[in-house]
Amino acid sequence: MELAVDIREMTKADFDQVVEVIDQWWGGPVAQQAHPAFFHEFGDTALVAVEDGELAGFVLGFIAPTAPPVAYVHLVGVRPDLQRKGLGQTLYERFAATCRARGVRQIKAITTLANEGSRKFHLALGFEERVDGDYAGRGRARVIFVKRLD
Ligand SMILES: CC(C)(COP(=O)(O)OP(=O)(O)OC[C@H]1O[C@@H](n2cnc3c(N)ncnc32)[C@H](O)[C@@H]1OP(=O)(O)O)[C@@H](O)C(=O)NCCC(=O)NCCS
Repeated sequence: MELAVDIREMTKADFDQVVEVIDQWWGGPVAQQAHPAFFHEFGDTALVAVEDGELAGFVLGFIAPTAPPVAYVHLVGVRPDLQRKGLGQTLYERFAATCRARGVRQIKAITTLANEGSRKFHLALGFEERVDGDYAGRGRARVIFVKRLD
């Protein structure tokens, strides 16, 4: 990665900032997806990337208590002017390393069919994808990405 960024656990101040910028970063209203539980209940698997003291990216995830457990990425975002410089991949790798150290051997994420950038990103990172037409409710399709964490 070409960027000089610091990746660390999310603080409340970081979370507040994520909520403020997320609509602009996504180019649409998605702030409700940054649910407070991702900070208050799952905070130690929520990470931010900071460049020159400014928020550069974040990942909100958690370890799903399934058997076996799964590292689930709920949201990953990179500031628009810093995209395609490897930061999204670095954030995923840091989240995955934390989960792997806790014995987790699979990572999962979902996205909508229309999010081409997200699909290409996950495929580039080695995820396998499948489409489930009713995943989020009848007729509410999602793309599901999974990858082994070895
Ligand atoms: C998806 C996102 C997190 C990717 O972060 P990023 O830092 O730009 O991605 P990286 O630089 O780590 O990309 C790694 C590889 O993934 C692929 N990739 C990433 N974004 C892509 C895009 N928009 N189109 C095509 N390929 C893409 C490329 O192969 C890329 O490698 P390359 O640049 O050397 O070709 C970022 O684009 C983003 O924040 N998008 C808006 C929010 C969003 O949709 N999040 C995902 C759903 S929760």
